[in-house]
Amino acid sequence: MSAGLPRRVLLGVCGGIAAYKACELVRRLRERDIEVRVVMTADAGHFVGAATFQALSGQPVRASLWDAAAEAAMGHIELARWAEAIVIAPATAHLLARLAHGLADDLLTTLCLASDRPLWLAPAMNHLMWAHPATQANLATLRARGARVLGPASGAQACGETGEGRMLEPHEILEALAPPPAAVAMRGLRVLVSAGPTFEDLDPVRFLGNRSSGRMGFALAAAAAESGAAVTLVAGPVALPTPAAVARRIDVRSTPQMHAVMLEQARAADLVIAAAAVADYRPAQTSARKIKKQGGALRLELVENPDILRDLAALRPRPFLVGFAAETDALEANARAKLAAKGADMIAANTVGEGLGIETSDNALHVFWHGGEHVLARADKALLARRLLALIVERHAAREARPA
Ligand code: CTP
Repeated sequence: MSAGLPRRVLLGVCGGIAAYKACELVRRLRERDIEVRVVMTADAGHFVGAATFQALSGQPVRASLWDAAAEAAMGHIELARWAEAIVIAPATAHLLARLAHGLADDLLTTLCLASDRPLWLAPAMNHLMWAHPATQANLATLRARGARVLGPASGAQACGETGEGRMLEPHEILEALAPPPAAVAMRGLRVLVSAGPTFEDLDPVRFLGNRSSGRMGFALAAAAAESGAAVTLVAGPVALPTPAAVARRIDVRSTPQMHAVMLEQARAADLVIAAAAVADYRPAQTSARKIKKQGGALRLELVENPDILRDLAALRPRPFLVGFAAETDALEANARAKLAAKGADMIAANTVGEGLGIETSDNALHVFWHGGEHVLARADKALLARRLLALIVERHAAREARPA
């Protein structure tokens, strides 16, 4: 996908009650001048008729690989090539399982296999089906292959139960897919993002680290790059693929390494987002040999690491600086203290624990800057990254507009 909006979307619709919301999604996509072609699974027709999608999209709707007339006009490979993005909404548990296993037993799954374009999935299912380890394993596989998962949301379900599994609303899906106009302001900006944990080695087999997955930083790097920014991503030890649009990735391990790379790269950056969960301390000594058990207690001496964000704030000219703060308590007081102490322009704070923050696929943020604040509600990290980025762009533009 080129920077910004996909112009041609292939919308896959599966057999779930949320299929009715897909009608609204087609309408909203068309309002943004995005061409839509709908492909239904066999079961989708139990919920919404093809004529509805045909009328809303203004295009023929396809449901079968074995439609001779359609194959003669726009064959399935042509259709896969035509799409700049594939969106499946609703995506049922069964569809996720078929995609995860690379099945191609109907038109929609065949198209997904025959395409290398961005794949967006908006799951919708009963909360127990969503929570089932099989579904979660399939999602992990699909995410690892680069699929973007939107939602699901929590709330009352069509089956009468309550829980996680409701499909996101069409406007939320659209917002994820087609970023708000604020993001257009990123075109040409040079953005430096740090992500993931840092590891401090004790000996050749052991290290001190933390549980950061790097997902938030990677989602921010992806969102900035898709909005047209030239992004350099500095990653600690993480198991994540480089987002497609990111121009450059530099892998580091320890805080001193991340410090050196960030300070050097920041000289050519307009905006720095420090999303890494940096180790504040490292062992005073790293043993070249494995430390052997000696019986009794083992004392480790730690020395303080440099503070990357604080040192970035001392650069002249100084890029626009966004830091993060993960807190277990006193969120606002700690975040405001960090904003001042580190000389940052913005701090995006989140509460860790209670199933939020580190190691999770979604998050919520409370963002502070000098003279303002904004709460970003709990959402998938990809969606949250877009929202945070829109806020960063707004604040960055406000700083640029201010007389020096
Ligand atoms: N940070 C940094 N260098 C460090 C430690 C943190 O650049 N040595 C950055 C992080 O990338 C993040 C912000 O500072 O953007 C806040 O990180 P956090 O760990 O919450 O803050 P600390 O200053 O380490 O404070 P504490 O751990 O005492 O809460």
